[in-house]
Amino acid sequence: MSTPVLEVRGLAIKLPAGADRVLAVEGIDLKIEAGKTLCVVGESGSGKSMIANAVMGLLPRPHVEPVVGSMLFEGEDLLLRNEAGLRALRGSRIGMIFQDPIFALNPVMRVGEQIAEVLDAHASLLPGLSSAQKRERVIAALRDVELPEPELIADAYPFRLSGGQRQRVMIAVALILEPALLIADEPTTALDTTTQALILDLIRKLQTRKRMAVICDIHHPRFRRGGEECR
Ligand SMILES: Nc1ncnc2c1ncn2[C@@H]1O[C@H](COP(=O)(O)OP(=O)(O)O)[C@@H](O)[C@H]1O
Ligand SMILES: [Mg+2]
Repeated sequence: MSTPVLEVRGLAIKLPAGADRVLAVEGIDLKIEAGKTLCVVGESGSGKSMIANAVMGLLPRPHVEPVVGSMLFEGEDLLLRNEAGLRALRGSRIGMIFQDPIFALNPVMRVGEQIAEVLDAHASLLPGLSSAQKRERVIAALRDVELPEPELIADAYPFRLSGGQRQRVMIAVALILEPALLIADEPTTALDTTTQALILDLIRKLQTRKRMAVICDIHHPRFRRGGEECR
């Protein structure tokens, strides 16, 4: 059996003093291998997003932070990484998509420029990438998420796009550097039912093609096939 992409053991995350409880979550164990899906199930407020943000290193530390446990990503404990170390992983080895793409996109920047920012943030992984090559990577990423006329979309501002198209752009951002792990935190809550199904099918298709592990907190028949569950 291969090394899991992510293995969380005994994780507990503390909340600030005065919160409704001391720990947001405790005793969390989960394990996911390449190409597999893990659905995290639990009622609203039970801490699913907390776990996702902990893996991404996006908790507002020190107010909210992991207090015990370990999170082995590709065999290395994420809790031992400093902020720069976590930043290097975010967007490259670990991608994340959120509930509402409108808040994740900058309204005054063209879609293509926003995708290119990921390449700039991880420029050391792509030495000597020319602007033309960067543009090609952006267009390819938009094509991967099956957006029609990717050149036009790259030059558009987010308000020109539908909700489903915006979520596709966010998926393009999350996947452009081919992460080993995609964390999807309610990726379809803000979308209508038909679009939800299309987006989930797209994530599935890309997951298979790229042999990517996916952690998702939604319970949808499209995601249960071949997936695993944990509470
Ligand atoms: N800054 C904070 N101060 C106090 N409590 C917080 C804070 N952030 C989160 N929480 C607590 O964590 C819970 C949120 O968990 P969350 O991961 O968003 O749940 P889920 O994603 O499962 O709906 C809230 O119910 C609240 O109790
Ligand atoms: Mg949540």
